[in-house]
Amino acid sequence: MSLHTIRTYGHPVLRSVAAEVTDIDAKVVSLADRMIEVMYAAPGVGLAANQIGVQRRIFVYDIGDGPVTVINPEIVESDGEWTYEEGCLSVPGLSWEITRPDRVHLVGRDLDGNEISIETDEFESRVFQHELDHLNGVLLIERLDEDQQREAKRVLRQRSIDLRATGDPDGLGLLGQA
Ligand code: NI
Repeated sequence: MSLHTIRTYGHPVLRSVAAEVTDIDAKVVSLADRMIEVMYAAPGVGLAANQIGVQRRIFVYDIGDGPVTVINPEIVESDGEWTYEEGCLSVPGLSWEITRPDRVHLVGRDLDGNEISIETDEFESRVFQHELDHLNGVLLIERLDEDQQREAKRVLRQRSIDLRATGDPDGLGLLGQA
C-alpha cells in the first residue's frame, strides 16, 4: 500500500492508539510534509498520521489559514455542546450530525518543538477533536447515537461490498469531502 494512501474504514491501523513522538527529528518533519500533501490532495481539512498508516501522535490541519502540524496533541479542557455535520476521509462519502463539546483547549508541540496552546470553538475545535480521536483509534462512527450507528454500520457493510466489486478497496474513487 502506498505511503500516500488514506486508510479507510475496516483497516486495523485506524483502531490502534498512536504512540507519543519522543524526538522531533527530520523523519517527523518529512512525515508532516507528506501528511499535508495527502490532506490537500484528498482534499480534506485535517489528517492524522495513522490515516496514512503511521502510528505516531501527529495531526495536520488547515482551516483556511495555512497548514499547521500538531505533535503529541492533548485536549486539556472542553466545554459546551455543538452539533455539526461531520465527515472523515477514512469513511469516504458519508457524514453525520454529531454532537461534541463546542470549545476546547488544545496543547501540543510544533515541528520546532515549541509549545502550542490553542483555545478555540466550533469548526476548528471540531477538527481538533476529530483528529485526536483518530490518534486514539476512534472513528466518528463511535460518536454517533445508537440509531445513527446501526444505520451507519448497515451502509458501511453495503459500501465495503460495493468497494470490492469496483476493485477500489481503499475507497479512493469516492473521496472528495472533508
Ligand atoms: Ni477523519
